[in-house]
Amino acid sequence: MNHQTLLLVVTFASASILIFIIRKVKQTQNSTKLPPGPNPFPIIGNILELGKNPHKALTKLSKTYGPIMTLKLGTLTTIVISSPQLAKQVLQENSQIFSNRVVSDAICALDHHKFSIGTLPTLALWKKLRKICATQVFSTKMLDSTKILRQQKLQELLDYVNEKSNKGEVFDIGEAVFNTVLNSISNTLFSIDLAHSTPDEKSQEFKKIIGSFMEEAGKPNVSDFFPILRPFDPQGVHAKMTSYMKKLCDIFDGIIEKRISSRSSKVDYVVCNDVLDSLLNNNHVGETTLELTRNEMVHLFLDLFFAGIDTTSNTIEWTMAELLRNPGKLDKARKELCQVMGKDEAIEESNISKLPYLQAVVKETLRLHPPAPLSIPRKCDENVNISGFNVPKNAQILVNLWAMGRDPTIWENSNMFKPERFLECDINYKGNNFELIPFGAGKRICPGLPLAHRNVHLIVASLLCNFDWKLADGLKPEDMNMDEQFGLTLRRIQTLRVQATSST
Ligand code: HEM
Repeated sequence: MNHQTLLLVVTFASASILIFIIRKVKQTQNSTKLPPGPNPFPIIGNILELGKNPHKALTKLSKTYGPIMTLKLGTLTTIVISSPQLAKQVLQENSQIFSNRVVSDAICALDHHKFSIGTLPTLALWKKLRKICATQVFSTKMLDSTKILRQQKLQELLDYVNEKSNKGEVFDIGEAVFNTVLNSISNTLFSIDLAHSTPDEKSQEFKKIIGSFMEEAGKPNVSDFFPILRPFDPQGVHAKMTSYMKKLCDIFDGIIEKRISSRSSKVDYVVCNDVLDSLLNNNHVGETTLELTRNEMVHLFLDLFFAGIDTTSNTIEWTMAELLRNPGKLDKARKELCQVMGKDEAIEESNISKLPYLQAVVKETLRLHPPAPLSIPRKCDENVNISGFNVPKNAQILVNLWAMGRDPTIWENSNMFKPERFLECDINYKGNNFELIPFGAGKRICPGLPLAHRNVHLIVASLLCNFDWKLADGLKPEDMNMDEQFGLTLRRIQTLRVQATSST
């Protein structure tokens, strides 16, 4: 080898080694680098940046810092995901690492977190509760066997609207629907109404407690940003939640007690075929027993009410609001109903699959108004590289469903209510199309999806079919206030006051 060739080989080898070293250094730098984000203030971090509407504030920040960003909320490192690709990486591809939850102080009241399907780590009890939900609460068989009870609750709603219509009175549709959804869930679970139309104190008790419970659980709590403060409960959230939970648990325990004694007396016992009867029958799936202790049952009921009422009733209210703001779409949905349903034929849950436009209306509502706009926070269980950044162990993970629903790079005219977009594609919300995951995705996807799907479609379809609708107080569709209020779920700021007239 002559001098020149030797020099060439040495230069080439040194350059390759240098490139290799630079790449390695870059890789290690990136894998230990947190995703970008706004600079945190000392102690409080970025709490103030969240404002009154964290989902909107985070959407705005993601336009500057990208679809994966870091915020410091007090001492809590929070990673915010705002794109379908990254949501898929977190919720599906790395589901082992991201399946657990960050548990708020409110949920620890009365040790609820030790029994709650919504917060338990994905171990034995959580698995058992999910299996019970899949086989004994939300299975097609169980939902079919309880559909008559929901149909009755729907009829009561239609009677109420009819009465208002006959008297020419305006009413708050959100409130009417809330009662129906609450009773529909309570009847599915134990064949009992828990919301009553009579205004006396006793009959309103459950509604009042569950309302206060949900309001308190949705409030930002300083103890969650600074867990060191938990023992002092500075805002009194833990204390109030303990009191509400105790009252709710006592009500559920009383219902279970009554059913057990009625079952054992055999005299006045009528088989109910509801969830409670099924749970008391001590079912097995193969070798696995699905037996629950009484305390586990009580906490499961608490979770199902807590997670199911506001989410479902707000979705129905937003759907009606969007249709009233877009009368052309309302007409189109009614036309489809008239074509599919025979005259005077009551709509049933089994009709939903024959109503593609109505289904598109509901998808479009959930795209624009996901009831849980930041989903339910997950926790990262180990340091992991996502998209070249380090997501650290114990970080809180928020998936910004609201941002993805309004992203103009995914949806044409993204702020427009246009159900037709879903007629041209087969996107659904069952957790596989990550651009539309209002029920979440992966292992912890909402177990109540099948019930919510039935309730939302059934109630909206029946309201549309039986009445003509008008906004109350002379409000014009274009003047409607579509602003949202962030809380446990995304509510309307403006109550939806309407006037209904029986359609001929
Ligand atoms: C339109 C209605 C509803 C929406 C949009 C909704 C949305 C969600 C979302 C986003 C999650 C978190 C999923 C995740 O972490 O990936 C969730 C979890 C949950 N939902 Fe729903 N939900 C609705 C109705 C219901 C109903 C009717 C019930 C029960 C009656 C229910 C019970 C639950 C429970 C128990 C969890 C916790 C599951 C777990 O952590 O394993 N939801 N829901």
